[in-house]
Amino acid sequence: MTEFGQYCTPLLDAITGYTQTDHAPFYTPGHKHGRGAAARLVELHGIAGLQADLPELPGLDHLGAPTGVIQAAQQLAAEAFGADRSWFLVNGSTGGVAAAMMATCQPGDKIVLPRNVHQSAIAGLILTGAVPLWLDPVYDAASDLAHGLDPTAITAVLAAHPDTKAVMIVHPTYYGVCSDVAAIAQICHAHNIPLLVDEAHGAHFAFHADLPQSALAAGADLVVQSIHKTLGAMTQAAMLHQQGQRVSADRVSQGLQLLQSSSPSYVLMASLDAARQQMATQGTALMTQTLQLADQARSRICQIPGLAVLSPEQAGSPGFAALDRTRLTVTVAQLGITGFIADEVLQDLGVIAELPDLRHLTFIVSLGNTATDIDRLVQALKTLSQKSPVLTQPSQASLVPVPYPSSGCSTPLLSPRQAFYAAQETVPIDQASDRISAELVCPYPPGIPILYPGERIMAPQLAHLQAVLKAGGMISGCADSTLKTLQVVLNQ
Ligand SMILES: Cc1ncc(COP(=O)(O)O)c(C=O)c1O
Repeated sequence: MTEFGQYCTPLLDAITGYTQTDHAPFYTPGHKHGRGAAARLVELHGIAGLQADLPELPGLDHLGAPTGVIQAAQQLAAEAFGADRSWFLVNGSTGGVAAAMMATCQPGDKIVLPRNVHQSAIAGLILTGAVPLWLDPVYDAASDLAHGLDPTAITAVLAAHPDTKAVMIVHPTYYGVCSDVAAIAQICHAHNIPLLVDEAHGAHFAFHADLPQSALAAGADLVVQSIHKTLGAMTQAAMLHQQGQRVSADRVSQGLQLLQSSSPSYVLMASLDAARQQMATQGTALMTQTLQLADQARSRICQIPGLAVLSPEQAGSPGFAALDRTRLTVTVAQLGITGFIADEVLQDLGVIAELPDLRHLTFIVSLGNTATDIDRLVQALKTLSQKSPVLTQPSQASLVPVPYPSSGCSTPLLSPRQAFYAAQETVPIDQASDRISAELVCPYPPGIPILYPGERIMAPQLAHLQAVLKAGGMISGCADSTLKTLQVVLNQ
């Protein structure tokens, strides 16, 4: 294996070898190499796909305590992504984010996070019992987008809370916006605490100099990547990487064993081995091509009347140090329509976006896209621009941003875990003020939760949420998205 280095695929090879051995299977899964699978499933995956769906058999190693082919595949991944150690994840970055928090925080420990974290971090807070020190991400009122964190905000919160145990950031955001991770890592390390990075959308960064710096290269201690989001692995396949000694690798393994299935999918793990080999051996060429496609798309879309695209020239401020050029966030609001209407029009034209919101559509350009895809996208957006006068529905949404009200660094009254397990009740919205929220309440746009479980509900926050709804936005995360009621902690 070592002779051919990154060209090797130890796990993929072991699985392929197993599918070719002649034996009578008396183990899981019940479909036994696809022979017992429903005909429609065989039609969908092909018999070869089902034959690779194997359990932890002799010679195939164990994900929880790997010593064989999984360990070898993980070592190759660590080398390719620039880590000291890597773990394969079969429950997406979702499991990795929670495991990173479990490895660094105990009940009652403080952890700094931006308010626009992914919901997996909330799961991490509930599982660990850690106390979040929420920081506002930098908010761009002009685009109505939430960006990354300003490093000076981290300096300030660590000065005020020197007993903080870890900092977690999101790098990049869903829109491809990156914070200055190297500066943030330096600040954390000056306090001798680890920096955990949710790099779910940045697994490709390590493979091209024209992409933003990867979190590992910037000095992060634990990094979680959804290899399935921007590289060639299958949905749910992700990795957690570690560098340095600030976090115990044993604690990471223990957390992952609690969070992951005891029957990990070899189909997913094989896809991680294959995606790593592909990037390690052809990554630069694949990313050069991807960047070219994205750049062409960006400059062509910018010329379409009424459309604007988030561009690398806009970078260079706190919270927006760099942009992933493979992410295209197109503002459609100047056409007088919402991103949701634009999304429907594009779907009818055979173009499917990753993420629509009130004002934008976000598209992921990756190694799987072709020049034909880009032509279809540009053509569809031209059609959208031409059609927009008849699509405009003035009654439906004002499309004027409701500026995000900065909350400052807030510490909740109860930890998310305490709020999650507390007795709760549902109250009409006009009786919610001054109570403790038992749920997350997140207005879109800009996707920054206004309330987290354990936080005091204040009248101005409720007014803001109502204003977002009135402007055509959405409220998510809470049981009643119409906001007639809220779940609150029962008064003792
Ligand atoms: C920022 C961020 N972190 C973590 C996740 C979870 O990743 P996964 O879908 O791989 O579990 C997502 C998913 O969209 C995400 O956007």
